Amino acid sequence: MSWKPTPQTEDKLTKLLGAYPDRKAACIPALFLAQDELGWVPDDAIAWVSEKLGMAKSMVEGVATFYTMFNMEKIGKHHLELCTNISCSLCGAEQVLEALEKELGIKAGETTPDGLFTLHEVECLATCGMGPAMQVHDRIFEGITLEKVPEIIKELKGEG
Ligand code: FES
Repeated sequence: MSWKPTPQTEDKLTKLLGAYPDRKAACIPALFLAQDELGWVPDDAIAWVSEKLGMAKSMVEGVATFYTMFNMEKIGKHHLELCTNISCSLCGAEQVLEALEKELGIKAGETTPDGLFTLHEVECLATCGMGPAMQVHDRIFEGITLEKVPEIIKELKGEG
């Protein structure tokens, strides 16, 4: 892959850097700019952030791989992150996971062949009282029941 940011992304980074006295402090938001454009953070994005912020590539990669919100592999259009930590687990998260896997025809950690969905198990989404909970990009689904699983997938496909 050979990626170059769009002029809009370059402009956003220029504005962003003006807000930080030390450009290295913009590492996380800069990585988000790349991920917003691509959906994930390939090596080219690491190299771009490294060059723009004057940081070693290994340092940028260290930041990107430390935080789970950065996708280091290509993902589907809809990134389903289901919490299977203790509170959600007690509310039936494992059964919801099985239902999602069945509905999508994939296992956790995989992407559907059409590239529409990637399913991951994650730790707490900080909505423990409303489990089982699932994050899909900026949206949180709470209190997911087995009946809601096909409805959610249908809605995300734009068919709901
Ligand atoms: S345990 Fe699932 S949101 Fe906290």
